[in-house]
Amino acid sequence: MIVKTTPEYFELLNKAVAREIQVSAQYMLQHSAMEKLKRKVIKENYLLDTTTYDELGELLEKMAIEEMKHLADIMERIYFLGGEAITKPTKITIGKSMKEFMKLGEKAEIEALELYREVLKMARNLGDDATFKLFRQIYKDEEEHLLKFQEYLDIEDEIPEIENEPPENEWRKIFTADYIKMLNKALAAEMSAIIQYTNQHEKASKETLRKKKAPLELLKGSNKAEVISGMLKPIFMEEMQHLEDIAERIYEIDFEAVADIDPLPKIGEGPDDWIILDREAEDYAIILYRSIVKKATEIGDIKTKRMFEKILEEEENHYWQFDDYVL
Ligand SMILES: [Fe+2]
Ligand SMILES: [Fe+2]
Ligand SMILES: [Fe+2]
Ligand SMILES: [Fe+2]
Repeated sequence: MIVKTTPEYFELLNKAVAREIQVSAQYMLQHSAMEKLKRKVIKENYLLDTTTYDELGELLEKMAIEEMKHLADIMERIYFLGGEAITKPTKITIGKSMKEFMKLGEKAEIEALELYREVLKMARNLGDDATFKLFRQIYKDEEEHLLKFQEYLDIEDEIPEIENEPPENEWRKIFTADYIKMLNKALAAEMSAIIQYTNQHEKASKETLRKKKAPLELLKGSNKAEVISGMLKPIFMEEMQHLEDIAERIYEIDFEAVADIDPLPKIGEGPDDWIILDREAEDYAIILYRSIVKKATEIGDIKTKRMFEKILEEEENHYWQFDDYVL
């Protein structure tokens, strides 16, 4: 091994992984919640072309994507060093108001900076220059995030909150607690898939490197890791879109998204495991989403029905893509 690592080092790097999963999910879900908050502010504000809510919504999405990138880079580094990246986030808290989003973001970024100073120290002690450089860049990004959140902290005092009890309107009676639970289960499944595919994609990058040093394996065309890894990227992008669409729909009908990751992502050793586990993940989603389409049809929630029909089509495509590689 190029760098002499220790279990404590991997533990620390995995704390960074947990942190990055948390913030990427947190900011993405807050981004989805923003539409709902926006509708609750005074009408004059709503009629403007752009509002603080739009601006902040965009900012949160941009940050979520940056955190995903951090996550991927850290996972890649862990695998490169011979470790195993985890899939469990630090506690995700969405919050109910814009002000709360900003406060939670500030807190998360301060905690991240603290943690990353520790990582930087340990990386330097071990002479792990590449990790040091990576975290120096990430550190800079987090500092910028922190400043952004602080910029918005003092904004407006009177801000609407997402209510626990949505308005009692006749047309909304179709949305039972069980139905919302199902939608949140879908959200949790998307999160699980996103983390599973990201983790495997980064694990594959190590395998790909290793295999390149074995020309014979390449000639025999057995570099499955590279193929699967290439497949995971576009699928991952679609799951991100699903996550956003489902979360936005939940907020649109005036309920709250729950940040959960379920089922637990399964990573597996190598490409042969990945495709089987990924096919399983798609299978799980397909069964769940079919039941949502059925329920949505029953209660007459046409918009959700259409949305899940479209998502279902894509999950089936994913399923067959993975299935093609199962021996
Ligand atoms: Fe980050
Ligand atoms: Fe950040
Ligand atoms: Fe999906
Ligand atoms: Fe999928």
